[in-house]
Amino acid sequence: MFKKTMVAAMAAAVALGTAACGSGDGDDSGSGGGGGGGDTITMGFAQVGAESGWRTANTADIQRAAEDAGIELQFSDAQQKQENQISAIRSFIQQKVDVIAFSPVVETGWDAVLLEAKRANIPVILTDRSVDTEDESLYVTFLGSDFIEEGRKAGEWAVENWGPLGQVNIAELQGTTGAAPALDRQEGFADAIADTPNLKIVASQTGDFTRSGGREVMEAMLNSNPEINAVYAHNDDMGLGAIEAIEAAGKVPGKDIQIITVDAVKDGMQALADGKINFIVECNPLLGDQLMELAKKVVAGEEVESRVVTEETTFTQEQAKEALPDRQY
Ligand code: AHR
Repeated sequence: MFKKTMVAAMAAAVALGTAACGSGDGDDSGSGGGGGGGDTITMGFAQVGAESGWRTANTADIQRAAEDAGIELQFSDAQQKQENQISAIRSFIQQKVDVIAFSPVVETGWDAVLLEAKRANIPVILTDRSVDTEDESLYVTFLGSDFIEEGRKAGEWAVENWGPLGQVNIAELQGTTGAAPALDRQEGFADAIADTPNLKIVASQTGDFTRSGGREVMEAMLNSNPEINAVYAHNDDMGLGAIEAIEAAGKVPGKDIQIITVDAVKDGMQALADGKINFIVECNPLLGDQLMELAKKVVAGEEVESRVVTEETTFTQEQAKEALPDRQY
């Protein structure tokens, strides 16, 4: 655990009072985070799960970055269940870690456990996904993508490329129900296509951000809506699952049924380069270094931005061919 010098202790107390404890109704007993001996910062990290290629890359990057930064990582995999994440956070509080970071499975239902962290004077950093709360003093900062913008970029490409095609019947493969990227990517896309009446979402269902989910949902959608000629998948994995279902139905992905996805992991980029996907909006999983830097600042009592947005791009089929050889994940 992080052992404070006198000066750092005062700075941290001020920072936790403003950043983690907000209104100051926390427990000032000093029994919370930052306790223990040694100079190593301990971070409790509650990961969503291992549902996608994106998540695997994100986990590996966080573990690598913690090691590089000399931060001791207590890592927990919630297997896409909110109750598991809440238990992990409670266990981090009991262990008196110096800082908690997590990527919330869903947006709502976090206030109680975040209040427990606040009362224990343990700062919380949200990474990748945010929470829906009226009390923003419950976390110090949120590092991650602008998911609405990602959905908008997908929709703008659809308007430009599908707009001139006549009737386009879109199947939307949504991410995990209630998760920030599912809600926001849906919203951004719907806003972008709103003024293009020939683009119509004819079916919309969750595939839980997994390849198997994407395949199953696409199979069912093709059976009940044979007129589907476009897919908007909230991540690459569901898009890759959809490709399997489309091929099994005797159709050609990327031609008979055009596909837009989000993430740009290697498998998705390969399918894009192969012409099976038509456009990918990038969502960057390499958040580790920025997260460790934020953690060090927060524990040292330094001010940090309350929102850090990840920089991202988009890929056409030609751009995927160029980018693939250097793609890290
Ligand atoms: O929160 C990021 C999203 O979660 C990624 O787009 C998706 O692949 C993952 O499961």
